[in-house]
Amino acid sequence: MAEDLDIPYGESKEKIYRILFPQLQSLTRGESDLIANMANIASVLREAFGFFWVGFYRVMEGRLVLGPFQGPLACTRITYGKGVCGTAWKEEQSIIVPDVEQFPGHIACSSLSRSEIVVPVKQNGTVIAVLDVDSDRLDQFDEVDRHYLEKIVALLS
Ligand code: SME
Repeated sequence: MAEDLDIPYGESKEKIYRILFPQLQSLTRGESDLIANMANIASVLREAFGFFWVGFYRVMEGRLVLGPFQGPLACTRITYGKGVCGTAWKEEQSIIVPDVEQFPGHIACSSLSRSEIVVPVKQNGTVIAVLDVDSDRLDQFDEVDRHYLEKIVALLS
């Protein structure tokens, strides 16, 4: 797992993101295909942090449609403004949910998911996808995740 990414055991979250970012930068720089890059970003994040679910939903004909992901099976389509993903798309900003049961309209693809962060992916100012990261622990995400995940999805534009 994390050993393959050269991440020393027991490092802080911020240190792990700092190690990962240049690796993701070089991984995505040499590849122009969006799906290929989304797939590798999802894989690297899940391997490095052991998150419960990491994946992308792409904006397709007015809906979010499931894209590359790592983890258990998930809902395939999400309506604009619905759930955490649809809300992040509508508001065009990242959303941190410390406890999914407290988020009105949260879409439970798995009952094991307890907290979540969703980060919009923008191209020329338009949301083209969202990155959704779920944890099976409460209150897993904070401003460090927001900062680095926003930098990471910017590699896709
Ligand atoms: N919980 C998300 C749905 C996607 S799954 O968690 C993978 C939401 O409320 O939008």
